[in-house]
Amino acid sequence: MLKKQLFSPGPTPVPERVLLAMAGPVIHHRDPAYEELFEEVREGLKYVFQTKNEVLLFASSGTGAMEGAVCNTLSLGDEALVVRGGKFGERWGEICEVYGVDFTAIDVPWGEAVDPVLIERALDANPSIRAVFVQAIETSTGVMHPIKEIADIVNGRDDTILVVDAISALGVSDLPMDKWGLDVVVSGSQKAFMLPPGLSFVALSDKAWDFAERSTLPKYYFNFKKELASAQKNQSQFTPAISLVVGLHESLKMLKEEGLENVFKRHQKLALATREAVKALGLELLAQNAPSNALTAIKVPAGIDGKKLKSDFEERFGLIVAGGQSQLKGKIIRIAHLGYFQQMDIIQAVSSLELLLRDMGYPVELGRGIRAAEEVLGSA
Ligand SMILES: Cc1ncc(COP(=O)(O)O)c(C=O)c1O
Repeated sequence: MLKKQLFSPGPTPVPERVLLAMAGPVIHHRDPAYEELFEEVREGLKYVFQTKNEVLLFASSGTGAMEGAVCNTLSLGDEALVVRGGKFGERWGEICEVYGVDFTAIDVPWGEAVDPVLIERALDANPSIRAVFVQAIETSTGVMHPIKEIADIVNGRDDTILVVDAISALGVSDLPMDKWGLDVVVSGSQKAFMLPPGLSFVALSDKAWDFAERSTLPKYYFNFKKELASAQKNQSQFTPAISLVVGLHESLKMLKEEGLENVFKRHQKLALATREAVKALGLELLAQNAPSNALTAIKVPAGIDGKKLKSDFEERFGLIVAGGQSQLKGKIIRIAHLGYFQQMDIIQAVSSLELLLRDMGYPVELGRGIRAAEEVLGSA
């Protein structure tokens, strides 16, 4: 018997409470009961996004809202700046390309965070740049980019907005949208929102709504202005993913009950414990300087087969971790700790890592990683 558990940075585990909420009969989205529930969902989303503005919700994976963020804020002929520090940074560039938005890329070595000075220089060099696209957490490398510092640079420029892909960062690390002046924040259900995949979220600052007012790029399903008008009536333009919205209602309640501050603290502790365990085993983190609290990307040591290590996690211990993508295929293992994760989940992951590496011939002193993790977990 093997109990399968998700340790991947999306999809992530879904709490029993949320599963049960979603298991009920499907209600109709024009029914007052749905409208009432949706009103509470709208409030809950504002709480998690830390914004007074509306958070729009779409029946798509996170990429849908990323695409919407491009085609609802920019216009034909606009230029953009894209931070490319991993697979998801590349995605911003790919979306811009499809919509004919010319962009300058800041290519950041995978595993490093962008230096905000490079953004400032690029904006100074090209005042026609209308939007800066970046990830809060670049999930393919486990890096957290310095969003506050980037926002401080973009905020001083009236004709430029900052668009943040916080798909794997919202509900993990503090990203106060209004306080920091983030113009567009995108997220998705299958991460720290503790839901199955299928919902994307996006919120716009007043400045970004002005951009949306003028935007001329084509859009149909992801039409933010029309969706805003519907949302304000507790409706959606098209049939919503009703069961997922019902699940979201429950998971938002859980986040509210725990309190955002505690949610961030929990993620920080789990991440720190994982990182300390990895280091105690003599392994190297991919993200040396700016590791995120959502996941830990570990370099596969020389002589160890990274693909086998990933598959053995599942085959021997039932843990579904992630490998590397694109240029990092076979070179890293990504262990997630975002969303519905608690202290002893980390012990499981570290213990599995120790046993697997030992059996693959890597010198491991059993218990060393666990001890390092416990020291963090047991601290105040
Ligand atoms: C940072 C980031 N951006 C974008 C995406 C893409 O989201 P989705 O697969 O939900 O379209 C992901 C998903 O892994 C992500 O982690």
